[in-house]
Amino acid sequence: MTQLDSALTGAPATHGAPEWWRDAVVYQVYPRSFADSDGDGMGDLPGVTARLPYLRDLGVDAIWLSPFYTSPQHDGGYDVADYTDVDPRFGSLADADALIARAHELGLRVVVDLVPNHSSSEHVLFQQALAAAPGSPERDLYVFREGRGEHGELPPNNWTSIFHGPAWTRVTEADGTPGQWYLHIFDTSQPDWNWDNPAVHEMFRGVLRFWLDRGADGFRVDVAHGMVKPEGLPDATVNAEGLIDIPEGEVPVYFDNDGVLDIYREWRPIVDSYAGDRMMVLEAWIPEHRLPLYIGPEEAHQSFNFGFLQARWGVPTMRAAIEKPLALADAVGAPTTWVLSNHDVIRHATRYGFPPEHRFGEGLSREEVPDTELGRRRARAATLLMLALPGSAYLYQGEELGLPEVADIPDELREDPSHHRAGVPGRDGCRVPLPWEKDAPAYGFSPTGASWLPQPAVFAELAADVQAGDPTSTLEMYRLALRLRGELGLGRHVEGVEFPDGLPEGVLAVRRGSVWVLVNTGDAAVELPAPLAAATLLVASGPGVARGVLPADTAVWLRTA
Ligand code: GLC
Repeated sequence: MTQLDSALTGAPATHGAPEWWRDAVVYQVYPRSFADSDGDGMGDLPGVTARLPYLRDLGVDAIWLSPFYTSPQHDGGYDVADYTDVDPRFGSLADADALIARAHELGLRVVVDLVPNHSSSEHVLFQQALAAAPGSPERDLYVFREGRGEHGELPPNNWTSIFHGPAWTRVTEADGTPGQWYLHIFDTSQPDWNWDNPAVHEMFRGVLRFWLDRGADGFRVDVAHGMVKPEGLPDATVNAEGLIDIPEGEVPVYFDNDGVLDIYREWRPIVDSYAGDRMMVLEAWIPEHRLPLYIGPEEAHQSFNFGFLQARWGVPTMRAAIEKPLALADAVGAPTTWVLSNHDVIRHATRYGFPPEHRFGEGLSREEVPDTELGRRRARAATLLMLALPGSAYLYQGEELGLPEVADIPDELREDPSHHRAGVPGRDGCRVPLPWEKDAPAYGFSPTGASWLPQPAVFAELAADVQAGDPTSTLEMYRLALRLRGELGLGRHVEGVEFPDGLPEGVLAVRRGSVWVLVNTGDAAVELPAPLAAATLLVASGPGVARGVLPADTAVWLRTA
């Protein structure tokens, strides 16, 4: 039996290689919406643990858990009130330990989310800061400032929040008078930590150790480009409408300041001091050319590369979104990462159903109707392209089922703070609880049928149990592609990446040694040249692939002799 045969018959993937993160496939679990074990309509850690065999069988190497820490849930848990405890909605610390232990038993690594830019306003240290006087050590843990104007009635500067509206909120002092302002780059319930204060550094070193001691294999660092603010908190340049002016490809003044790099240099030796190849992956939405500064032997192990997610459908754009990050990462000896969906962007099965210039963030309104079939075809093709590339790939729960973004959520059930602050649809549409079983209550998400967001009827046919065993399903395409990826070593850099010419117009060709990945981005089927027409088909993203024929919006992996 050849290696490839063993992949096709489902032999177990090989886990545990050194520096596993270099070519890992990491599956993002959004705990609220993955699986609910106690029937309250909110997913939980025991629910995740019970479904881990599904993830092992899917063929991923690791899971990344979005925050499950104590939190009032004003931003889906990215508002942390206690970094070293589990929110009772999600379970207990013992449940976290059990999850990590079971994952390890199954050969899966566990990456946890670290949210260092801000805490929840319910964090005890913020509550103490509010109760303390201006200028006190308690206030100095966060970014408090006097306001401008005669009576301090104007915010300290003109920064606006990522969730829209001002980035400052004024507090009422102990004597009942209007007082200082505190900074929140996100929601008012998410005050920014003051990273100029050594006590904040010390606290987070403790948080890292806490989860490393419990067996976490790594951290996904939230807003990893945000912690250190520019000296003196200068005003941002504003445009004619009075909004912060952010030139294309740049970031607001409060992001991507060099001081954040020192934080990774402080954390790296801690992470590396633990046995077992622990890692950090950064959520840094920064200009591409800045990425290499954040990754390397003394900084983080890797960073999300959001350029691929944002690349428009078409040969030049997608090719550039592959070539550039590979070159940049290679220059610092770090692996590239690839991602198409996460809990912040419109699911890619829906995104590709819109014209390429459609935005990828802030959710979907009922009025924006995608071409569902086109979206599904292109999403599957884009996934096959991604999974053939060297580096690590991050999957978002439910993309393996081809789940669409849900637009039809009643406004009163929406929880995303950006919906409430700015009236944009918001990100709830990619966070709808997963369908596991077609005929079970809440499609198997919870035993009682409760679900914190309503699941659309279209989820029935997309349920995991409907797709399992159907070779034409999205789920089986992911399973096959993941098995082949591991077996053929496509995640590794060994074979390099070539972009051969001579293919019909509209076809993106990526060659990985004897494996060719072809994506037909055009709107008609094409005929492939002779040597490829004779190659062995390993996996296809859609129907209609015949010897030498590649349908529109379809990808294949072919193997030449
Ligand atoms: C990150 C998270 C997002 C959250 C924000 C504030 O971008 O991915 O969900 O709202 O940070 O923590």
